[in-house]
Amino acid sequence: MLSVPLCPNSVGASLRGRPFSSESGAPTVGRPNSYESMKLKLAPGLSIKKSTIEGRGCFAETPFRRRRKIAEYAGEKISNAEANRRAGRERLRICAINNRWSLDGSRGGNGTHYINHSCEPNAFMKITSGHILFIALRDIEPGEEITIDYESTLHSNKKRCICGAPSCRGTINKKRKKPRVSAR
Ligand SMILES: C[S@@+](CC[C@H](N)C(=O)[O-])C[C@H]1O[C@@H](n2cnc3c(N)ncnc32)[C@H](O)[C@@H]1O
Ligand SMILES: [Zn+2]
Repeated sequence: MLSVPLCPNSVGASLRGRPFSSESGAPTVGRPNSYESMKLKLAPGLSIKKSTIEGRGCFAETPFRRRRKIAEYAGEKISNAEANRRAGRERLRICAINNRWSLDGSRGGNGTHYINHSCEPNAFMKITSGHILFIALRDIEPGEEITIDYESTLHSNKKRCICGAPSCRGTINKKRKKPRVSAR
């Protein structure tokens, strides 16, 4: 993940009400006069439901086979400077494309902006030719929450991870190894 990371700094405009899915017609959700109140058009095979990890999560409605694309991240294209301005949010739904541009999934997202972090993820993110793709790490069955390892986000390195995985490392961000200092 690039330094303007995914989901970490996503703003917490949390959705209220019943879960919605790409198969149920994408109901209107959220506050009036906001992007959240627009119809959320979910990527095929995904649904948004309450997560056992944090808030809401992105779930598989259909099987996704190992190494296959799950969906592409969608959102408003913003500069990384603007991404940093939005980074104070409790929940981050911003994903960097490169060292200049990011996508903010909280505006125009397709459900992938609800993908939570897990230290034992079943998917990963791959950026190719300016497209941010989620790929299955293993076979994912309908009903499973889709998760990735955020690795690096705009959150503080102290932001606690609550994924609950047996091998949870304790923080959302991966700690960077200190560069070796050669003794002279
Ligand atoms: C892209 S959102 C994921 C959807 C979010 N659960 C929601 O309801 O909007 C990313 C945000 O969710 C929270 N989050 C996701 N995974 C987490 C985890 N394993 N531990 C703690 N917070 C997490 C963090 O606040 C992060 O900025
Ligand atoms: Zn964890």
